[in-house]
Amino acid sequence: MAVKRVGITDTTLRDGHQSLWATRMKTEDMVPVLEMMDQVGFASVEMWGGATFDTCLRYLNEDPWERLRLIRKYMPNTKLQMLLRGQNLVGYRHYADDVVVEFLKRTIDNGMDIVRIFDGLNDIRNMELAMRTVREAGGHVQGTVVYSISPVHNMDTYVSFVKELLDVGIDSLCIKDMAGILAPYTAYELVKRLKEFVDVPIHLHTHYTSGMASMTLLKAIEAGADVVDCALSPLALGTSQPAVEPMVAVLEGTPYDTGLDLELVSAISEKLTAIKAKYPQAQNPSIYQVNTNVLRYQMPGGMISNFISQLGDQIHRLPEVLEEVPRVREDLGYPPLVTPFSQMVGTQAFMNVIAGERYKMVSNEVKNYLMGLYGRAPGQVNEELRRRIIGDAEVITVRPADVLEPELEAARKEVSLYMEKEEDVLSYALFGQVALKYLKERESRKYNVDFELAEQAKQGGYPV
Ligand code: CO
Repeated sequence: MAVKRVGITDTTLRDGHQSLWATRMKTEDMVPVLEMMDQVGFASVEMWGGATFDTCLRYLNEDPWERLRLIRKYMPNTKLQMLLRGQNLVGYRHYADDVVVEFLKRTIDNGMDIVRIFDGLNDIRNMELAMRTVREAGGHVQGTVVYSISPVHNMDTYVSFVKELLDVGIDSLCIKDMAGILAPYTAYELVKRLKEFVDVPIHLHTHYTSGMASMTLLKAIEAGADVVDCALSPLALGTSQPAVEPMVAVLEGTPYDTGLDLELVSAISEKLTAIKAKYPQAQNPSIYQVNTNVLRYQMPGGMISNFISQLGDQIHRLPEVLEEVPRVREDLGYPPLVTPFSQMVGTQAFMNVIAGERYKMVSNEVKNYLMGLYGRAPGQVNEELRRRIIGDAEVITVRPADVLEPELEAARKEVSLYMEKEEDVLSYALFGQVALKYLKERESRKYNVDFELAEQAKQGGYPV
């Protein structure tokens, strides 16, 4: 029996705690397991990107670049992997090309191996520069196709987008199902279809949210998927990934054996269980459960719980909001419900219901989207609505980042006082005030000077 080693990418240190603990896991709690994780033989370890960069600066008072360096130091034998939102990098808007290039060069320099690059609209123009830069910097380009369910997403559209990715050049391909809606037999069909012409390894990323994910991974493996994403069991299930341990056990002795040592993996999970006890947000048992609403409404679990908290005493209107979501999505040409479009569509649906009239209030994000600033919609946008909302304003058809001026030099000037290393400029270019606050605090600790007070003194005396 021919054995094809199936690889496992471990997501514990990124998507695992992003999905379950609001991305709050501290670097100090990762360090105790890094050397053990390095022994396992994971295909890669996803530990950076997504929301981790933002939360380090905003909530944890940590430098995300130092986290990357530290993990690199403790994991010399394992490929490190990050998630990149195309031209949005690890933020929520398009950045100018100079920021994209510098960010990715520094990322690879600091030890990143694999960059998983996606765009929520599967618009290759928002990914190309990032892909080429990672390639030129010596990194591994993982091209990503975002999976979604809509009348304009089907096998043929995925196949043609994957061909675009192959044309630009990829070292591996990822099918990304951020909502946990990819059903097992669909996954089988999709992977089989892609395997006919994709000559690089195919990875599958899904979420356990709806309860289907481990079945989906198994069917994808049977269809030829090379690597699947799992998280160590203390940070698996619920809105996170399927667990590593059962996947290792299920495949052991089959033609898809992962070759991983279940004893070693379990020992790491025991350590993580102890660490988990330190996090209050990890103690809510409902986050590890299955949410069948995801199957009924094909929406990410987080979106529905957002509606519930926004509605407050208007909770009886939840069914109307849930019915409005697909209508808004249709008006916008079916963007997949992934960041930032899940927030955009959700907020608009909510406003349409609460205002009592559709599009009486329109968010800036929807206006920008209709102006083409996010890229090409997967389907047809409702033209009558577009004209009503943006009037005679011109819709851009060029690559969205082409309308952006360079940003790096201005950022360098603004941050120069608190800068210790080039990477600080990037943190500031990406997160502005949030990064500046972190850099000032770091400076305060270093010199034991309160720079806010010093600033006030400069303006005209100490406050009383
Ligand atoms: Co994910």
